[in-house]
Amino acid sequence: MVVSEQFKNPIGFYDATPSFSWKLPQDKNIKKQTAYSIVVASKPELLPNNADLWESGKVESEQTLFVKYKGKKLSSRQKVYWQLKFWDQDKNASAWSEVANFELGLLHNSDWQAKWISLSKVDKAKSPKTNKTSYKVQYLRNEFTLDSKIESARLYITAKGLFEAKINGKKVGDDVMAPGWTPYNKRIETLTYDVTDHLQDGSNAIGIALAEGWYAGRLMLRGYPKVSPKVMCQLEVKYTNGDVKTFISDESWKATQEGAIVYAGIYDGEQYDARKEQKSWSLTSFDDASWQKVVAGDIDAQISLTPKRHNTVKSVEELAPIAITEIDKGVVIFDMGQNMVGVPRIKVPMDKDGTLKIRFAEMLQQDGRMYTKNYRGAVSTDYYTAKEDGQIEYQPTFTFHGFRYVELSGFNANATPDKSWVIGVVQHSDYNLNVEFNSSHEKLNQLQSNIIWGLRGNTLDIPTDCPQRDERAGWTGDAQVIAPTSFFLGDVHSFWMSWLQSVRNDQDEDGAVPVMVPSLGGRLRAGAGWSDVITIVPWETYQRTGDVGVLEENYASMKKWVGFYQSNAKDHIVKMFTHGDWLQPYSTHKRDERFGVTSNKLIITAHYAHSVNLTAQAAKVLGFKSEAKEYELLFDAIRDVFQNSFFDTQGRIIEGPETQTAYLLALAFDLLDDELAQKAVPHLLEQIKLTDNHLRTGFLGTPLLPLVLDKIGETDLMYEILFKETYPSWFYSINQGATTMWERWNSYTHKDGFNKGGMNSFNHYAYGAIGRWMYERIAGIKPIKVGYKEIEIAPIPGGPLTSAAATYNSPYGKVSSSWKIVNKQFNLDIIVPPNTTAQVFVPGNTQESIKVNGVEFDSNSDIKLISKTNKAFVFQVNPGTYSFETNY
Ligand code: BGC
Repeated sequence: MVVSEQFKNPIGFYDATPSFSWKLPQDKNIKKQTAYSIVVASKPELLPNNADLWESGKVESEQTLFVKYKGKKLSSRQKVYWQLKFWDQDKNASAWSEVANFELGLLHNSDWQAKWISLSKVDKAKSPKTNKTSYKVQYLRNEFTLDSKIESARLYITAKGLFEAKINGKKVGDDVMAPGWTPYNKRIETLTYDVTDHLQDGSNAIGIALAEGWYAGRLMLRGYPKVSPKVMCQLEVKYTNGDVKTFISDESWKATQEGAIVYAGIYDGEQYDARKEQKSWSLTSFDDASWQKVVAGDIDAQISLTPKRHNTVKSVEELAPIAITEIDKGVVIFDMGQNMVGVPRIKVPMDKDGTLKIRFAEMLQQDGRMYTKNYRGAVSTDYYTAKEDGQIEYQPTFTFHGFRYVELSGFNANATPDKSWVIGVVQHSDYNLNVEFNSSHEKLNQLQSNIIWGLRGNTLDIPTDCPQRDERAGWTGDAQVIAPTSFFLGDVHSFWMSWLQSVRNDQDEDGAVPVMVPSLGGRLRAGAGWSDVITIVPWETYQRTGDVGVLEENYASMKKWVGFYQSNAKDHIVKMFTHGDWLQPYSTHKRDERFGVTSNKLIITAHYAHSVNLTAQAAKVLGFKSEAKEYELLFDAIRDVFQNSFFDTQGRIIEGPETQTAYLLALAFDLLDDELAQKAVPHLLEQIKLTDNHLRTGFLGTPLLPLVLDKIGETDLMYEILFKETYPSWFYSINQGATTMWERWNSYTHKDGFNKGGMNSFNHYAYGAIGRWMYERIAGIKPIKVGYKEIEIAPIPGGPLTSAAATYNSPYGKVSSSWKIVNKQFNLDIIVPPNTTAQVFVPGNTQESIKVNGVEFDSNSDIKLISKTNKAFVFQVNPGTYSFETNY
């Protein structure tokens, strides 16, 4: 039972008109819902019979997803309880469910009495031996007195920068890098914490550490901004007598920048000096006489303060090193065995006043030393200075690193390095992982692991291109490329919804969508293939989740983006910037090898058409019939220009060089009439053959390759490309030791070492887009109707695989497809969740018989043979668990 985008019993919730979703129990007696009833109340004891906020009544409907709340108006801080009941296929009512709840955060700026506070002047500190500076971390504190017994307490808090709060010495919540990264000039997300247990009778103390983060630190292209960090909080205490008392951040607070965390920056790391620890600074016993008074400013009317719309970043997993090497006397490298994103937790013996230097690297050089060149300008180094002899424990607070290796130096010289000195703390937005995928092929399984780590490493609050170098930005192209796959990997619905809100925040009046969101300014106001994120991601989100809300929210922006194309178009040919088929292997681009050779004109026109097409489809779903028609006509017109100007009558490309990507764009986006499309197919296949069945695609072409080959029935060819071991291919990087997705297929090779090109990240999720095909075709699980209301289970075996399996946690419950080939028998085991139906394609010799659940198939109430192709039996299947066996 969840509200809106999969929030389970949230507090500080953002949505005062939420929707309700639930999953039916996945047991064999429940096939389908025929009706539901929802009751919503302001107190749990009013449920189910005296619901004072809303009673849906018995609604005859199969709907279990996104049922809109239609009750009394809800307001900030309100806690709401709900319960539901459903009727199954035989009209039997279930018992009332457990009671779920949500509690709204502060929904409006007017809910805030607090002020932004900080020191009047915050100094910067230099990272040792570099010219990179970061703001010194501020420590702010105040005390307050409770004069009655408390029932509950909430801390509402946010920062222009990053905060960590403590009350009476106890950390508030377990979030890291909060409040995260949004277009701060438009929207800042706020957090709500239940701090009832932090408080004590009488006097209390609150302390907040405040760092620059994304808001005030240097970022690529933007450089150093002319702002400094600030924090704002409002503590609301409810006494048992019903009174409410509010304590706010204001000019009565005091602050210092002389605390233990000296400075911290996103790119450059953190410096911690234990000698400066002000041990009890968040306790009432602390004497802050030497601290300064803060300055306080009112909240800005033009920046909306909204409860955080997706899960915060948390420490989600810990990795132990698999090896350590003393590379020089007193310099030890720890291998975490996995390229990861987060921070280390260090436990190491130190001498008083000694400084531990902590360096990071994704790879080692041939001589075994740390390879940090690809971090470019990011210093990515932490320092810890000890206040006394003995073992220290340290985990950075206000930075993160992308690394597999951690190098320590400066520890006690007599100590013997030990693996226990370092733990890798993995951090990202806190979503559940959604898919399990396994096969008979070790490298394919490694690829699956690399795809997951690629996503995990690049979803630290926003979708990023990479997590390690002086970039880590919300590149929109990379995001649109990985989005479909990401829904399989994790429960990322709210993650995308929240970021799409940032995309809308950053969209210009004329419709331009920046190539990075949050935008870092600069001249790249828009770019084809990147800015189309505003049509592609909402559409994908809708397909995968069934949430019409994503289209409702984004439709106006989709239209605006199409409008931007239109206003730059002449006869449907648009003048616009594009990064092109970025990082296409063997590019012979004259000016810059990073740009592919596919014609920009063709890429831009294809994306223009595609965005128009998706906008037309969104209009249709939303019931805007005449607009849908308009966009369909526009799509047809662009399509005509596309095929007439860029193709000859034989389906061969005449605009720019023939490339795999050029054909893929045309076929994936349906830009050719059927006849011409058929003629184009052999030219695409010819392009692939010319490369000995290797891909020659960059960021834009690669995700389309499996989709198009699938569509034209060339699954075997896709298997061949996927299982290639030679450059460029997925397994090629794995053969060179990849544990994540790389920016280039040959970012590193055993033979030639590191790629000399400028872009050399070992954690770039874009090429992980192949994941979608692995789950949709190798395992065979794909939505036919949005949100998986109707599911296709159509695995097609190929390559050297003898088995593959995936279990996907769909909005309706677990879908599973697991196949193996043994002694020329094809076995398929599937699970179809309740309230869905599935079409199952069982490959095999359709001239012969097929066994279902162990017996020869003739007819069965739960399963219908609807057709036979020459390659597969096609069944219509109701919820349940089935096994199929055919001769293969
Ligand atoms: C990023 C890419 C991004 C690109 C734009 C790079 O610096 O790392 O992934 O899409 O710029 O071409």
